[in-house]
Amino acid sequence: MEKNRSSFTSKIGFVLAAAGSAVGLGNLWRFPYLAAQHGGGIFLLVYLILSVTFGFSLMVAEIAIGRKTGLSAIGAFNKINKKCSFIGYLAALVPALILPYYSVIGGWVIKYLTVFCTGGASTAAADGYFDGFIGNTWQSLLFFAIFIGVTAVVVLLGVEKGVEKVSKIMMPILVVISVGVAAFVCISNGIRGEWEGLLYYLKPDFSNFSIMTVVAAMGQLFYSMSLAMGIMITYGSYMKKDVNLESSAHQIEFFDMGIAFLAGLMIVPSVVSYSGIEGLNKGPGLMFVTLPKVFNEMGPVLGNVIGALFFVLVLFAALTSSISLMETVVSIIQDKFHLERKVSCSIVLGASFLIGLPSALGFGVWSGFTPMGMDILSFFDFITNSILMPIVAIMTCIVVCYVMKPQAIIDETSLTGKFKLAKLFKAMIYVAPVLLIIILIFAIFEAFGITFGGFLKF
Ligand code: PHE
Repeated sequence: MEKNRSSFTSKIGFVLAAAGSAVGLGNLWRFPYLAAQHGGGIFLLVYLILSVTFGFSLMVAEIAIGRKTGLSAIGAFNKINKKCSFIGYLAALVPALILPYYSVIGGWVIKYLTVFCTGGASTAAADGYFDGFIGNTWQSLLFFAIFIGVTAVVVLLGVEKGVEKVSKIMMPILVVISVGVAAFVCISNGIRGEWEGLLYYLKPDFSNFSIMTVVAAMGQLFYSMSLAMGIMITYGSYMKKDVNLESSAHQIEFFDMGIAFLAGLMIVPSVVSYSGIEGLNKGPGLMFVTLPKVFNEMGPVLGNVIGALFFVLVLFAALTSSISLMETVVSIIQDKFHLERKVSCSIVLGASFLIGLPSALGFGVWSGFTPMGMDILSFFDFITNSILMPIVAIMTCIVVCYVMKPQAIIDETSLTGKFKLAKLFKAMIYVAPVLLIIILIFAIFEAFGITFGGFLKF
């Protein structure tokens, strides 16, 4: 893979490809339910602050590491220092663990697409429909298998470029539709005089703040921007030296945050108006429970058309992300064990299916099994986002601070002109590991059910 490393020919090519990996279910499915669960406006504010400070800095660091070394994560850390190569492996473990459960959610998207394509808006909007579906063993397995199968076929045939091309058209349409649906939600809430949900989402209420708001926002930041798993290092290795790294990072960040914000605007206020404040704790199913109700409200024809269109777009956003997840794992296995692409792809497909099975069944036949009090899918999500990614991020910062030195990143970023936020970057890269360690400790305590009632609450 390293031998004939191709490059993105233009800045826009790089930004779109990186944004294709970044924008996915993380923005549309994960962000809204976390925002709903962790205080609405205050979560939004914390996320925003973290993303323009820490998220930006880590993104610049990862892209610069990739471009400087010209290698993907494992090779890059190895080149920086032999003793650091384990970080590359740890980073590679993250996409390997995310891909399986990501595909379970991808399967839910396909299911909803089929429902809306067959005019089932009112069926999907009915109470209990979603729970019935995810509790059904064969259905959840079937759609999970279809999603991961399609991802594998694309990776195997090496037609990512084709998918990328299509998604370059789909992404802007997704933005337009999202703006339209969000506007519909705001207007119809306004007409009904229901402001509670909108206020909950848009107005930071400090009494909703807790340390878990920060833990969740930080995990979401990594996940959504595809950070702390070596992916941006790989993308950086394909970036040409004459492309402005700093402004590329800003654009990816802006794109990613914009879509997440819109998704929240579509979903969070609607939850409050349909199911009241208690509905906010619905967890991973939130998007699938709420949006059909919104579409259904648009009337039988428009509702089905917009619903189907929306889920096609979400499916493409999810596929560009799952392809980049699988591609990463496949190429690592291929390089490491000198396997043919076909073999490596089959191994990853088989392993991911097996690892994903418990997540797919965790809402039905295996719902009695609740590691650390979570459903199995949330457990995998927690381990990767709240434990592994902070660890990889801490190590990346430490390597940048003490092995490479921040100046190396600043120099790489300054190749095309002054690195405007160099001071912020330098401060963040030193401060972040300390914050991350604190966050990690809280996350672990929380997982074991030790909560900090009132602690760090305003
Ligand atoms: N960032 C993607 C999303 O928001 C998820 C993802 C993570 C994709 C890591 C690729 C790599 O959905």
